[in-house]
Amino acid sequence: MNQMNSFKNPLLKSMKIGFVGAGHMTQALVKGMVQSKAVRPEQIIISNRTPGKLIKLQETFGVQTRAQNEQVVEECDVVILAMKPQDLPAAIESIAGAFNEHQIVISLAAGITFSILEKQVSDGRLVRLMPNTPSLISRGILGFMCQESDDYVSSTMEDLFSSLGVVVEVDLEEKLDALMISCSSGTGFVFEMMMYWQDWIAERGFTDEEARLMTIETFLGASMLAAQSDGIEIEELQSRVTSKKGVTAAGLSSMRELEMERVLRLSFEKANMRAQEISRSTK
Ligand SMILES: NC(=O)c1ccc[n+]([C@@H]2O[C@H](COP(=O)([O-])OP(=O)(O)OC[C@H]3O[C@@H](n4cnc5c(N)ncnc54)[C@H](OP(=O)(O)O)[C@@H]3O)[C@@H](O)[C@H]2O)c1
Repeated sequence: MNQMNSFKNPLLKSMKIGFVGAGHMTQALVKGMVQSKAVRPEQIIISNRTPGKLIKLQETFGVQTRAQNEQVVEECDVVILAMKPQDLPAAIESIAGAFNEHQIVISLAAGITFSILEKQVSDGRLVRLMPNTPSLISRGILGFMCQESDDYVSSTMEDLFSSLGVVVEVDLEEKLDALMISCSSGTGFVFEMMMYWQDWIAERGFTDEEARLMTIETFLGASMLAAQSDGIEIEELQSRVTSKKGVTAAGLSSMRELEMERVLRLSFEKANMRAQEISRSTK
């Protein structure tokens, strides 16, 4: 992660960072950028379809807001397109001609490929960014891909987003899709499992609060242990809590018999198919 004043792009401090769309992801990114001091609030300019969220963002973080998307595009060096994929074509229509070749134009839209984006964004250095919601607490995975390899863009992306978590540059859109499914949608998949955990515990007489805490600490504890066990495979960590013919082994054997891996893989594939459907329907 970046420390203050150790930016790869020395121009970052004077750049204007624009967001078109002020939803959940924008709020997470703005919070991380401002709190980490990667950029100053006055460097950030945001527009949204309706004004409510803008007022809140301005009050909370001291960022600038604009009534028109076009103003954001005209004023900013980096423009982040942060609306739902299905809203992207309509949003871009009115601003399509406003981009310039020097701008970094970052799309967050899941399933919207470069070949679609380049038809809609007239100019600019196109980047696809795939963050996940743990970025809110600086524990995100932020995958990005530049349409054309560009050191200036890559270093700016690192500077802007490394305070929000681990920034991963990929070289193929298929990899970005895989990162989106496993890490962005994946956050939702992990929550699904946590809900089953919590329900099972609560059904055995623990309060909801206790069940929630026990679930969170189990997932967090396992993750932290893996994170702090350099050079030790996850499989090895698992074997350390599993004695032959013991309790954990019985549970794991059932998970394997019931083909939990297959269930997960199928769910990942289903999510991937949906991303491709979105991509086709936006062409
Ligand atoms: N949430 C995640 O975990 C996640 C992870 C990875 C990527 N993404 C991507 O991030 C993007 C945003 O997701 P989100 O969860 O932040 O969505 P969201 O909370 O629904 O926010 C979308 C925002 O876009 C605004 N908007 C829609 N059309 C607009 C237009 N024409 N001009 C200006 N603003 C417009 C909406 O305005 P209103 O207030 O008027 O509705 C809304 O505030 C999506 O493309 C998604 O695929 C999200």
